Amino acid sequence: MEDLRKIKERIETLRKEITLHNYYYYALDRPVISDEEYDALFRELQELERAYPQFITPDSPTQKVGHPPLEEFKPFEHVVPMLSLENAMTEEELLNFDKRVRKGLEGTPLRDILDSSGMYVVEPKIDGVAVEIVYEKGILIAGGTRGDGRIGEDITPNIKTVRGLPLRLMPFGNVPDPPPVVSVRGEVYMEKGDFLKLNEEQRGRGAPPFANPRNAAAGSLRQLDSSITAQRPLRIFCYGIGKIEGLSVTTHWEVLNLLRSWGLPVNPLSRPCKTVQDVLSIVDDLRDRRHELPYEIDGAVVKVNNLEAQRYLGETTRSPRWAIAYKFSAYTAQTRIKNIRVQVGRTGVLTPVAELEPVSIGGVVVRNATLHNYDEILRKNILVGDHVIVRRAGDVIPEVVEVLKEKRTGEERVFTMPSHCPVCGSEVIQNPGETAHRCSNPRCSARVKASIIHFSSRDAMDIEGMGEKTVEMLVDRGLVNSIPDIYTLSKEKLVGLPGFGDLSAENLINAIERSKRTTLDRLIFALGIPYVGRYTARLIAERFPSIKSLMSARREDLMSIPGVGEKVAGSVVDYFSDPNHREMVNRLLESAIEIKTPGEEETKELEKSSIFSGKVVVFTGTLSSMTRSEAEELVERMGGKVSKSVSRNTDIVVVGENPGSKYQKALSLGISVMRESEFLNHIPFRK
Ligand code: IVH
Repeated sequence: MEDLRKIKERIETLRKEITLHNYYYYALDRPVISDEEYDALFRELQELERAYPQFITPDSPTQKVGHPPLEEFKPFEHVVPMLSLENAMTEEELLNFDKRVRKGLEGTPLRDILDSSGMYVVEPKIDGVAVEIVYEKGILIAGGTRGDGRIGEDITPNIKTVRGLPLRLMPFGNVPDPPPVVSVRGEVYMEKGDFLKLNEEQRGRGAPPFANPRNAAAGSLRQLDSSITAQRPLRIFCYGIGKIEGLSVTTHWEVLNLLRSWGLPVNPLSRPCKTVQDVLSIVDDLRDRRHELPYEIDGAVVKVNNLEAQRYLGETTRSPRWAIAYKFSAYTAQTRIKNIRVQVGRTGVLTPVAELEPVSIGGVVVRNATLHNYDEILRKNILVGDHVIVRRAGDVIPEVVEVLKEKRTGEERVFTMPSHCPVCGSEVIQNPGETAHRCSNPRCSARVKASIIHFSSRDAMDIEGMGEKTVEMLVDRGLVNSIPDIYTLSKEKLVGLPGFGDLSAENLINAIERSKRTTLDRLIFALGIPYVGRYTARLIAERFPSIKSLMSARREDLMSIPGVGEKVAGSVVDYFSDPNHREMVNRLLESAIEIKTPGEEETKELEKSSIFSGKVVVFTGTLSSMTRSEAEELVERMGGKVSKSVSRNTDIVVVGENPGSKYQKALSLGISVMRESEFLNHIPFRK
């Protein structure tokens, strides 16, 4: 008995020591013991745990090695949406951001706070994969990718293998304890040296090498078999907390220090800045040091330091108004345009594409670059055969930035837009006021193919196996001539076609069947209505009960949805006023497409998990997206109580335009203040 207690104690001590050394090694980059000493501690722990498995706990450092493979990733819901950042490409754009921030805070007491303490925090923008990690009672219990900002993939076993990420938070020194549940956000990345080594190994195994460290990190993190992830040298820098409530911090800088003091790796180059001028000099510094760093950074992130000011500034549908990504200029290279071809997209738009002499830009071989449209070719004065500068920025398709006219030989040829579609031969038209050239034939096979590929894609109807090659073959053979034709396919029709045996035919048919049970937002997105992306499709789906009701929606109905403007509304109405589109949707509905709506159970769950549940909420000022009574009703539906005046019992004050004295009172009482945009983000269901 006595012995067992001693063993347990030794195990505990070893765990603490190892966790501490992981922190010194990975987070501080300053190991205090040799690798051999560390290995000896680790081995001792492993051996004790092997002999006494009853003492293994999920937070033991030995558990960072992976679990049995998963069938698929489960969804991971972010309680507070994980937004993206707006980009500033030039100094001017950064200064404009500063102006917007100051203007946004004008007339509030927060302005003074900004001028007296550090106004911003600058952090390196790590080129990796955004993740969220949840700690409950200090123990790592879950991890997920950003996904679309609301729902990502549950990668818990994989996240546990990330080097330097503690499985148990270890507050160092005299610091506040982490709250019972805390979700930490950060960027998982791979060091440049580790990436090169990994690629060598990949080649050795005959596996394809990764294009860049970010792809390597993303690919490694999304392995269904976490023992593979465990072999990949992934690391992390943490830069934020999902929900700050319950913590006594007033600035982002304090948040970073808190994370660090809990044992999480925080980038050591982050700096508080008093003014935007300081920001510029820190950014210059980062740019200069960029190539010496062991990991890739693609810019700097500038964040308003004061958290109250962050809340007050709020966010747009996509990104916070209190932060911006100041991107370093992208990678460029010189090459030559061999030819210009024309691609036809799903809306019939003709896009000229430059075929290049292959060139490596920042580790990626580039063969094609978009020329956007004919006007761009004229504006940049691009000829076939020209030497050009090509830029590749992050995920964006490479583009031609500039022509090196001095290199012209006289052999170059002028490019003209074809008068007839290169695919179907129909006339090419240009609508008045539009730069785009379009194929006039709605049945053009290039358009049909592109729209079917989009319809089947992962974020749309998610028909696995309906990729580019298959679609091309099915359309060329006349088996599919329009989107609804997908649902007329059968196993018999597929078997024997190029690439299709018994099994693959069955798999595709099953995938097609599965896609019939879908959600309204996916269907809306899948139709490929111009300007309706994934996010907008979701906003629309939240407002309309069915696709039928959307088909008869008026512009005004659509424009009353926050986040939907004139352009989107007009585009949706135009789309459904085309009888061909209406017929197509009707055919889809006839082929038994079934739209799932969140069930009552789910709604109840949402109510329980709402941040308004059990809270006293006060509104002040004018709301732009709904009436006061609608807002109050929503809060009540989510289990909150609405009160007319602010007191110490108030939990949340929602602030609209021109807030009155209630806002001042909330600030003086230190009550949490929420702007309208933030309020909207917390409403999961909207009629
Ligand atoms: S803050 C709402 N800080 O950049 C705040 N993001 O372009 C959003 N990123 O999705 C994130 N380093 O994946 C933040 N120090 C940093 C970052 C960082 C890299 C990534 C992150 C985000 C993307 C936005």
